[in-house]
Amino acid sequence: MNFPFIHSFATFLLIFSASQAIQSSSFNIQTDKEALLSLKALITDPTSSLSSWNETTTVCKWHGVSCNRAQQRVSGLDLQGLGLQGSISPHISNLSSLTFLNLQDNQLSGTIPSQLGSLSSLNILNISSNLINGLIPQTILNCHELTVLDLSNNLITGSIPQNLESLSKLQIMKLGQNRLNGVIPNSIGNISSLTFLDLGTNTLTGSIPNELGLLHKLKHLELSINNLTGSVPPSLYNVSSLVLFALQSNHLHGDIPADVGFRLPNLLFFHFSFNEFTGKISPSLHNVTKIQSIRMSYNFLVGSVPPGLNMLSELTMYKIGHNRLVSTDTTSPDHSLHLISSLTNSSKLEFLAIGGNPF
Ligand SMILES: *[C@@H]1O[C@H](CO)[C@@H](O)[C@H](O)[C@H]1NC(C)=O
Ligand SMILES: *[C@@H]1O[C@H](CO)[C@@H](O)[C@H](O)[C@H]1NC(C)=O
Ligand SMILES: *[C@@H]1O[C@H](CO)[C@@H](O)[C@H](O)[C@H]1NC(C)=O
Ligand SMILES: *[C@@H]1O[C@H](CO)[C@@H](O)[C@H](O)[C@H]1NC(C)=O
Ligand SMILES: *[C@@H]1O[C@H](CO)[C@@H](O)[C@H](O)[C@H]1NC(C)=O
Ligand SMILES: *[C@@H]1O[C@H](CO)[C@@H](O)[C@H](O)[C@H]1NC(C)=O
Ligand SMILES: *[C@@H]1O[C@H](CO)[C@@H](O)[C@H](O)[C@H]1NC(C)=O
Ligand SMILES: *[C@@H]1O[C@H](CO)[C@@H](O)[C@H](O)[C@H]1NC(C)=O
Repeated sequence: MNFPFIHSFATFLLIFSASQAIQSSSFNIQTDKEALLSLKALITDPTSSLSSWNETTTVCKWHGVSCNRAQQRVSGLDLQGLGLQGSISPHISNLSSLTFLNLQDNQLSGTIPSQLGSLSSLNILNISSNLINGLIPQTILNCHELTVLDLSNNLITGSIPQNLESLSKLQIMKLGQNRLNGVIPNSIGNISSLTFLDLGTNTLTGSIPNELGLLHKLKHLELSINNLTGSVPPSLYNVSSLVLFALQSNHLHGDIPADVGFRLPNLLFFHFSFNEFTGKISPSLHNVTKIQSIRMSYNFLVGSVPPGLNMLSELTMYKIGHNRLVSTDTTSPDHSLHLISSLTNSSKLEFLAIGGNPF
């Protein structure tokens, strides 16, 4: 028998489990408290919302702090809408049991600390509607448990990290209303749990990746107001779960498939305005009986308005202005009246724009 081997293996095990114990015991409610106080130290709190963060109150009763009972650790921080200013301390990474971090609707500035990436239990991260600048740290890809990543409505620059496949549990990704540039990473297509993707109102360039068509649970796709070019990948018209399909204000071209309404039967919002789309209005859009909003103005669409508009009882917005459309019935003495009379059953219609066409 090879005793020396067993001996050294046992020693290894001993050292290994001891270091594990040190690792897990190195953070506790006391280090959580210190981390929270160092977080507070970088924050200006104009309404004294954090006055309970003091020595006389127990940490788990501090405003916005949640603890898990079992381990007596800080598990959540909800400081939304408190008018907080200042920046996010890198010491936040010492809150190693944090599962949710809601800092939305404040006036926090500075960058997202890269140390955030060591919060390996983080499930929900919402920093939307602040004044955060700088880059999205690559380390965010280490937060493997994230289901919600909302950094929308800030001043974030740089490009979207590649290798997003490591965020395999992500359901909601909102990076809209920032100053992101570069391309949409193909790896978004690997996040198969994604239901909500908002990258709108940035300056993203390049074409829409084919891989987005792999997102079979995607309901909400918002890519409006960017600098995207090319045509819409055919695979996207196979994402039958789509409810909102918004590509407005880009430089996209190509025909919209005639059968789009049959392939995307759950559509409620179809927003393709301000692009360079050609071809005819897809007749099948008028077969999506629950559709609420169709926007295709400012493109190069030709032909006439297809029949069936009168079937769309939920329609509130129908915008097809500034194209090259002609009347449905060229033999009728008043061409545009014909279209309008077909809408008499659309009792919810609030916005109808048909101007700028040679009707
Ligand atoms: C965070 O943890 C590190 C290492 O455990 C420690 O050196 C540092 O002082 C802690 N910071 C705070 C604010 O507790
Ligand atoms: C500490 O927090 C408690 C609970 O909110 C509050 O009543 C008390 O006034 C605070 N003390 C100080 C010194 O701010
Ligand atoms: C993040 O916070 C904003 C502001 O409260 C809210 O509107 C948004 O729905 C939140 N994001 C997610 C994904 O829940
Ligand atoms: C990501 O998706 C591509 C297909 O688009 C696939 O070839 C690749 O293996 C996937 N990567 C991971 C890590 O799942
Ligand atoms: C976006 O596209 C417009 C028009 O093509 C161009 O003038 C502008 O420089 C582009 N912006 C970026 C950030 O690429
Ligand atoms: C879309 O789905 C149809 C039917 O399943 C399939 O035949 C076609 O190849 C798919 N197209 C793309 C581009 O994925
Ligand atoms: C689609 O709508 C048109 C116009 O209302 C109608 O004639 C056609 O039968 C519909 N097709 C299907 C498959 O429902
Ligand atoms: C409106 O609906 C009524 C009742 O369903 C129907 O008789 C009429 O033809 C419809 N009008 C138009 C313009 O489709």
